[in-house]
Amino acid sequence: MAGLFITFEGGEGAGKSTQVKRLGDYLSAAGRQVVLTREPGGAPGAEAIRKLLVEGAASRWDGVTEALLHTAARRDHLVKTVWPALEAGKIVISDRFVDSTTAYQGYGHGLDVAMLEMLYKAAIGTFRPDLTLIIDVPLDIGLARAGARGGVENRYENMDRKFHERLRDGFLTIAKLEPARCKVIDGARDADQVQADVRAAVDGALKRHG
Ligand code: TMP
Repeated sequence: MAGLFITFEGGEGAGKSTQVKRLGDYLSAAGRQVVLTREPGGAPGAEAIRKLLVEGAASRWDGVTEALLHTAARRDHLVKTVWPALEAGKIVISDRFVDSTTAYQGYGHGLDVAMLEMLYKAAIGTFRPDLTLIIDVPLDIGLARAGARGGVENRYENMDRKFHERLRDGFLTIAKLEPARCKVIDGARDADQVQADVRAAVDGALKRHG
């Protein structure tokens, strides 16, 4: 596809949303056509599924059901929002994508990662992001930031500390397994420094993309 698909990943309170917005502003100012989106969500049907996933008790869904809901939301998001924009040559930046399923449902909740890969392949195929930026922060910083945010979208934040540790290790493992696609960025620094690394990685990807 003509456009470029960039995803941001990380645990709770990594600061992804701020970085996504600032990257969007930077690319728009450079004259690029940019679509900012998020998962779960990013299309009307997928946003309705999001509500089921991020609200309510931590025990609301069993792991497989949860993975199926995320996958359903992801397909709707791709079909309705991401693929049309990429075909039109735009840069699409998504706050989370499939690595969140691998990290949260796989490494976090202990679902078989190979099963999750099969699910992705069956529902979506071989499509992958061109670049994935993993914003990594120590647990205490991330959970403190996420807690300060408040609101009703706290189902995942309320899972125990060990879960969040597995999650962080999971994202770092994904980055090691796919170094050409994934770049880990230290998110514990101030937002300007993080953004400088984000822009350097994206400028590199744009150069390679042509
Ligand atoms: P957000 O807080 O970054 O908007 O993400 C919503 C929550 O959904 C977050 O706690 C991570 C979780 N999530 C998964 O567990 N699996 C997934 O595949 C995705 C996209 C998100």
